[in-house]
Amino acid sequence: MFEPVISATGLFTPKESISNDELVESFNRYVDQFNHDNAGAIEAGSTEPLQHSSVEFIEKASGIKSRFVLSKAPILDPEIMCPRLPERLNSEISVLAEIGVAAARDALARAGRKPEDVDAVLCACSNLQRAYPAIAVEIQDALGIQGFGFDMNVACSSATFGIQTAADFIRAGHARSVLVINPEICSGHLNWRDRDSHFIFGDVATAILVEDKSLAPAGHWEILGTRLKTQFSNNIRNNFGFLNRTAPETRDDRDKLFMQEGRKVFKEVVPMVAELILSQLGELNISPALLRRMWLHQANAGMNRLIAARVLGHEASADESPTVLDTYGNTSSAGSIIAFHLNSEDLNTGELGLICSFGAGYSAGTVMVRKSG
Ligand code: COA
Repeated sequence: MFEPVISATGLFTPKESISNDELVESFNRYVDQFNHDNAGAIEAGSTEPLQHSSVEFIEKASGIKSRFVLSKAPILDPEIMCPRLPERLNSEISVLAEIGVAAARDALARAGRKPEDVDAVLCACSNLQRAYPAIAVEIQDALGIQGFGFDMNVACSSATFGIQTAADFIRAGHARSVLVINPEICSGHLNWRDRDSHFIFGDVATAILVEDKSLAPAGHWEILGTRLKTQFSNNIRNNFGFLNRTAPETRDDRDKLFMQEGRKVFKEVVPMVAELILSQLGELNISPALLRRMWLHQANAGMNRLIAARVLGHEASADESPTVLDTYGNTSSAGSIIAFHLNSEDLNTGELGLICSFGAGYSAGTVMVRKSG
């Protein structure tokens, strides 16, 4: 009988970060330039003037104070406002694989595991750098892992869907040690010129080593259960793809980057996630009072406050529902794993916690864990 557990997690954080002050200063310079360049059309009423962004709004609406990025200077340059990562030769490792490998090595080192002990690699993230070959297979090769690998994308829920997939492989005896890797270069799919969302995302990579309990190091996390849910919605969407790669220059291509109806997302996803968590707890016969900690998806501080309150029946403390939004921003699938990675060492043997993701699709996933001795 095989029993999947989380042996360790790993984290790669880019060196550079952008504070809200830096972000808003650059955005507002872009706005001023746009309004200056289009003064005639604005005066004539044929073009709407752009409005300034504000640090106060960003912090109040999202809880985000800063975000890490792989390519800071071009993002803050009002003439560019997107990352500029030089294209690499096919003989060089891709950027997504490189940061995934860094997170994977961290997880392997923490578990005292060698790459050759791993049987499979799942690259589970929101935005793959290319269609094929799979980034997971490139990571597998870079680490020297035998076996197999594949990519999967369930947007911000990719990590929990990846954990369930890895756990199922282990239960079925198809693998004994699986790396689930979440490299997220969110800065490449964010529209840094969009006032409503320019503050949301950051770059990072996380890794989760899911293994059979018989191999796992002391202090691993038992997986008591997982639950996944999807429900179609257009409210978070990115239409970029190979069918529209050659769009005429005149075509409006704003929909080829991240777009959302933020208010609708907030209103519709909060109840969906709270119900999913409560149904998972009910299924496992665990009272919410026994939950020591929830590592929720890091999209918005207000959403997390509401979800945690619905589950616990009271306002969650920072200890019950820690946030990394202030320093990392929204890092898509990696968010709940960063929260877990940075805020789990203090739990005692036998204590219960819940990793939970949610996002585009809509998609949501929960992983109930118990600290082992
Ligand atoms: N700076 C200053 N003001 C801004 C602004 C900015 N950058 N962006 C928007 N505003 C203004 C709006 O123009 C609006 O002004 P008005 O009331 O005069 O019309 C006001 O702030 C409120 O805008 P709104 O978009 O309704 O804000 P909100 O409170 O809903 O917060 C989000 C926006 C995106 C932070 C919030 O809806 C959210 O987090 N939703 C869930 C997002 C999410 O989790 N997505 C998943 C991504 S994976």
